[in-house]
Amino acid sequence: MSRKLRHNNSLLIDQAELFPRIDRDLYRLFHCDAFEWLEAAKSCSIEAVVTEKRGEIMRLVQTLRGGDRPKNAERGFEMVSVMPRSCWEPWGLFRKPCEGRVQDNLRKWRTGGLRRISNEEPFKDVIESSVARNGERAIAPHPSLKPQHFMRQIVRASLPFGEGTILDPFMGSGSTIAAATACGLRSIGLESNDEYFDMAARAIPLLAASTRPYPKGLD
Ligand SMILES: C[S@@+](CC[C@H](N)C(=O)[O-])C[C@H]1O[C@@H](n2cnc3c(N)ncnc32)[C@H](O)[C@@H]1O
Repeated sequence: MSRKLRHNNSLLIDQAELFPRIDRDLYRLFHCDAFEWLEAAKSCSIEAVVTEKRGEIMRLVQTLRGGDRPKNAERGFEMVSVMPRSCWEPWGLFRKPCEGRVQDNLRKWRTGGLRRISNEEPFKDVIESSVARNGERAIAPHPSLKPQHFMRQIVRASLPFGEGTILDPFMGSGSTIAAATACGLRSIGLESNDEYFDMAARAIPLLAASTRPYPKGLD
């Protein structure tokens, strides 16, 4: 069954309909200089396949991973952590290689650079974050829900002039699409799981409408 849903500027397309083609053509689909983000496990080194790596963003987030005392021997080893407590997560930033100079790509394709936070402040490679707030979790109870606070900063930076389309081929509960909607950006989300697709359809307008506490200009 083909399922499409429109919400403001966003078009959600069921993965079964389009993903195989998009997956194969993703690289060709991109404009030169278009960015691609990949959340990666810390244990994996993030390497480009066809795109080139442009850096890594550290999302500072305290999870419950690591930091524990020795199992079943916590007493007596109160001052020991077996592993460090995880406090950051890496996001790889890739782009389709530039055609000539960045300024030429910015003129031609309207992409190739990251939108600054402000005239005075560049986009930075450390972003303070937290796990998704309870309110967001109640709206979108997906196990990998990403907070609007973080996603809005990522999607806003990705389209320097607010032109173009944000694509999330692994949409889950739609946090990327909601963030794009909140930032007034066009977006496409793909999700293979019917339950999550339906969750996203319900959650996106609600997440996009949530207003606090986001960095200035992102609510
Ligand atoms: C890590 S989660 C994304 C969570 C999302 N960022 C959020 O905040 O809710 C990855 C999602 O990709 C979906 N997925 C896995 N393989 C897929 C595929 N081939 N095509 C589309 N979606 C896929 C999974 O069902 C899962 O919901």
